[in-house]
Amino acid sequence: MKVDLASYSGFCFGVKRAIKLAFQAADDGRVGTVYSLGPLIHNPQVVDKLKGKGVRVIEDLKGIEEGTLIIRSHGVHPSVLAKVENTGLKIVDATCPLVKRSQDLAKRLDEEGYSVVIIGERDHCEVKALLGFVGDEALVIENLEEARRVKKARKLGILSQTTQSVDNFKKVVGELSAKAEEMKIFNTICEATRKRQKATLDLSRKVDLMLVLGGYESANSRRLAQISQDAGTETYHLETPAEINPGWFKNKEKIGVTAGASTPDWIIEEAMDKLKKI
Ligand code: F3S
Repeated sequence: MKVDLASYSGFCFGVKRAIKLAFQAADDGRVGTVYSLGPLIHNPQVVDKLKGKGVRVIEDLKGIEEGTLIIRSHGVHPSVLAKVENTGLKIVDATCPLVKRSQDLAKRLDEEGYSVVIIGERDHCEVKALLGFVGDEALVIENLEEARRVKKARKLGILSQTTQSVDNFKKVVGELSAKAEEMKIFNTICEATRKRQKATLDLSRKVDLMLVLGGYESANSRRLAQISQDAGTETYHLETPAEINPGWFKNKEKIGVTAGASTPDWIIEEAMDKLKKI
């Protein structure tokens, strides 16, 4: 059995930066209790490590008046920042700079009079936060079927969730192009996402079975699993190497491994070791 790791996989720079900032805050005795509004990244194993360092995950700011609040890599709705201003909380902003760029672009499109369209998952925290930069007025489109139902518009300003599938983005933009008199498009899918998606597709076409390592809540990991499945390759999405089932590899010669942008190296290394032993 031959095992190959995708040429791009695992932590992206935005996630690395967020984790570094969180550990720095946790190690700094002067900043009080450190909170993260929602899990810092969509990887429970990393969130557990941070918890071990004292970083507390909270769902809202109720009753939290002091300490340090880490803004996670997905960004946060501006109303949260407004609430923080009325407390003694300090902010460590770990919003990925590329997410921040999308937020600035959304605001600019809105100011220029475009009806803003976000191609992404309406329940994803990045998209919910992004909506806040256009007064919660943008249209969120998840897929081609939804794009088909959009009415004609004068000016559409389009951007994407940073971890969207490139293929879905192209399809939705193609459909919308027939509906607007004027359109401004920003492909805000980040480079880390594009590279991981392409590497997953290339590898999945060469192997008999693919393993995708990543949190079940991680949108970009789920997307990698979908890309591999759509390529017709038997695919398993796992959160930890403990889930690897040796029975999967019967009569399989080539195995591919990939990992989402929030999957730490130690999980990838453990999985590769386990596969080598099998
Ligand atoms: Fe940033 Fe892209 Fe990672 S938006 S957090 S570099 S997946």
